[in-house]
Amino acid sequence: MASSIPVIAIDGPTASGKGTVSQRVAQHLGFHYLDSGALYRLAALCALRAGTDLADEASVAALASGMKIRFVDGQVLLGSEDVSTAIRAEEVGNSASRIAAHPAVRTALVALQLGFRCAPGLVADGRDMGTVIFPDAGLKVFLTASAQARAQRRYKQLIDKGFPANMLDLLKDLNERDARDSNRAASPLRPAEGAHLLDTSDMTAEQAVAQVLAWHAASRSL
Ligand code: CDP
Repeated sequence: MASSIPVIAIDGPTASGKGTVSQRVAQHLGFHYLDSGALYRLAALCALRAGTDLADEASVAALASGMKIRFVDGQVLLGSEDVSTAIRAEEVGNSASRIAAHPAVRTALVALQLGFRCAPGLVADGRDMGTVIFPDAGLKVFLTASAQARAQRRYKQLIDKGFPANMLDLLKDLNERDARDSNRAASPLRPAEGAHLLDTSDMTAEQAVAQVLAWHAASRSL
C-alpha cells in the first residue's frame, strides 16, 4: 500500500559521507533516520560471534531475522548490549558486505527497514533505499566521492573511534567492497531511476546537506 509519509533515500558507496549527510538532513527536518548499513553490520557481528560460516546463507538469514535491535539516542543496542562501536570495525564492515550479497539475508531485513517509515518522515541511508526498499521515495540521492577522498574519510572515522587504520589497506578494502556491492545479483549498488547524483569529493558536509535540503524543498513544491 502506498504511504504518504515522505522518504528521502540516500544511497552510495562505502565512506561516501552518506551517514553524516543523512543524519544532518534528518535532524534539520525533524525526520527519523534509518542507517540500513548498521542492520547488515549487526547481522555480520552476530554471525562472527556465533562462528557461523558467512557463506551459509540460511544460517545467517536466521540470525538476521532473530536479532533484537534497538536504536536509542544514537546508540545501537543488540539485546541490552551497546554495540555502537563494535559494529564499526572494518572486519564487521567487510563481513557485512559479504552477507549482504545473500538474497535471504536481505529479505530477512526488509520488514525491519519498512518499519522506520513513521511520521513526519524518514531519511534512509544505504545501497538500495531508492531502488528496492523505498522505490516511491519523493527524493532519491546517489552520493559519491573519489576513492581517495573516501579512504581519507574512513581513516579519520576509524582513528577517531580508536581503531587501528592504514590508508593503503583501506583503499584496497574500499575497492573490493565497491566491486562486491556493485556486482552482486541481489539489490546491487546503483543509482535509482531519477536519483540526483552528488559528488562530494570537494564538498564539505554542510554543502552536501544544503544541496539535499534544496532538492527536498524543490520536490515538495512540485
Ligand atoms: O559505512 P559503510 O558505507 O562502509 O557501510 P555501511 O553503510 O555501514 O554498510 C555495510 C555493508 O552493508 C555495505 O558494504 C553493503 O554491502 C551492505 N549494505 C547493503 O547491502 N545494503 C544496504 N542498504 C546497506 C548496507
